[in-house]
Amino acid sequence: MDPQKITSETVRADFNDLSAVVHYTRAAHELGLWASERALIERFFPDKSASLLEAGCGAGRVTLGLWSLGYHHLTAFDFAEELVDQARSLAAERGADAGPTAIAFHHADATVLSTVSAFADRQFAGALFMFNGLMQIPGHAHRRAALRELHRACAPGAPLLFTTHDRDSSPTERALWRLETIRWTRGEQDPRLVDFGDRYFEDEAGRTFMHLPNREEILADLAATGWTHEFDAMRTKIAQESRDVLNFSDECRFWVARKA
Ligand SMILES: C[S@@+](CC[C@H](N)C(=O)[O-])C[C@H]1O[C@@H](n2cnc3c(N)ncnc32)[C@H](O)[C@@H]1O
Repeated sequence: MDPQKITSETVRADFNDLSAVVHYTRAAHELGLWASERALIERFFPDKSASLLEAGCGAGRVTLGLWSLGYHHLTAFDFAEELVDQARSLAAERGADAGPTAIAFHHADATVLSTVSAFADRQFAGALFMFNGLMQIPGHAHRRAALRELHRACAPGAPLLFTTHDRDSSPTERALWRLETIRWTRGEQDPRLVDFGDRYFEDEAGRTFMHLPNREEILADLAATGWTHEFDAMRTKIAQESRDVLNFSDECRFWVARKA
């Protein structure tokens, strides 16, 4: 790999950085599940006794949200140790760290899950990779590797719920990406980027790598990794979010796929 390119190590370091840890820990403590997340979880994960896997759990915003809804067979992992520590501590604060309903947290990389014994084949009845975590994996082959690993760890019939940011969602976005196409054609793009559609920027959450796909790319990725597409819709079509959620997160597309 070209030494100046963004790698999973860059992304992991960015998520372990203090500004990201504070940002995601605050959201886990104060924000909880979005209305859209809750609606889709209740629709596609109707069995609360099912064993679920949450990839990229961060500081536990979704994990603890699931636990509060009554999902009590939860396994969650993230490759950023600092965030997993925060998630463990929030679980302890909420009483979700002991007894038969304790959440199992792991430090693991979604692209190489088979290296952790907890993630054996066909273990889970469903999986989630929320708030664009899957799109924060640099490199198309690596994103597909994560989809393959989640497919392997899930039982037949399991749903997978995740989100992406569309790169062609508005006329402004489309105009910006047309300019970016010209940059890539001329070889003048940010040399740290790996694929067309990548962005690397800095805001209140710290430095963020994000791949923005179009719909066709995700449909092809699901088909190539064994998942059957079942549903996709923009967040605004699913639920109305609070001001706090809108301040925390931009519009996104939700996806549900199923293991045949
Ligand atoms: C935008 S944050 C979302 C965190 C949390 N799910 C939430 O909604 O608040 C994306 C998360 O995905 C994790 N992540 C990204 N790539 C990963 C990988 N290859 N393996 C495991 N976790 C990863 C990041 O560390 C980060 O915690």
